[in-house]
Amino acid sequence: MKKTVIITGGTTGIGKATAILFAKNGYNVIVTSRNANKEAEVLKDFEKNGASVTFFSLDVTNEEQVKTVIEKTVEKFGKLDSIVNNSGISLGNALLADTESDELKQMLETNVMGVYYGMKHAIKAMLKTGGGTIVNLASIAGLNGLVSTAQYNASKHAVVGLTKGAALDYATQGIRVNAVAPGAIKTDILKNAIASGTYDVSGIEALHPMKRLGEVEDIAKGIYFLASDENQFMTGTVLSIDGGYNAK
Ligand code: NAI
Repeated sequence: MKKTVIITGGTTGIGKATAILFAKNGYNVIVTSRNANKEAEVLKDFEKNGASVTFFSLDVTNEEQVKTVIEKTVEKFGKLDSIVNNSGISLGNALLADTESDELKQMLETNVMGVYYGMKHAIKAMLKTGGGTIVNLASIAGLNGLVSTAQYNASKHAVVGLTKGAALDYATQGIRVNAVAPGAIKTDILKNAIASGTYDVSGIEALHPMKRLGEVEDIAKGIYFLASDENQFMTGTVLSIDGGYNAK
């Protein structure tokens, strides 16, 4: 039986590269996006990349919608084997006292509650069908402080906490829970951080010992490894894919 994976926010950036990799490895792939009107465009784009996917619209800050997407997936494909909680936002890079309180609330809603809802309802489904795997998107900002990034730091540290705690909760029940911690990767999120004027590309590159940014495919490969049968004995791990950043 083909395996099935949900990738939240899987229509852009890291999520899109991850969806293509899973599809090429024979998975049923569900990508989600907040914008229901994008379905035709998204499916066409994946086809161009040689990948066939299913599209569900989903705002990860809405628990009911998360639950429904997981139920619809199990209904359509019989089982949910993996979920990649990839949706995330990064707002307002500034020194902490100069940040807007509402930006932290929004990041907690998406980056923390969104991941929590995805984990919670996926685990409920997986427990009924013999297990599965979860991969969450943490960040170098989930393992270390970054200047002018304290709010995002807080949200990604929480992702690490959810990952480790849940890994222990389900370690004997066939559910492996891991995270990846990417360094700076060329996607829209990074463009926004640069647009805020806090960082520029060469400054970000210089933060990484390999002196360059990462590619979305670098992260997709790590996510695929953690989620697939290639990994049998890793749970509660935060895999750094960061050009050496976390070795400093
Ligand atoms: P991206 O902006 O292309 O992807 C984020 C996706 O999340 C988008 O498709 C966006 O529409 C979706 N999203 C945002 N809010 C949502 C909501 N409420 N409901 C559903 N979907 C929502 O950027 P990227 O880089 O691909 O980000 C993917 C993940 O990787 C994020 O969690 C990000 O924090 C994380 N990350 C990215 C790094 C980078 O340098 N690009 C570094 C470390 C972590």
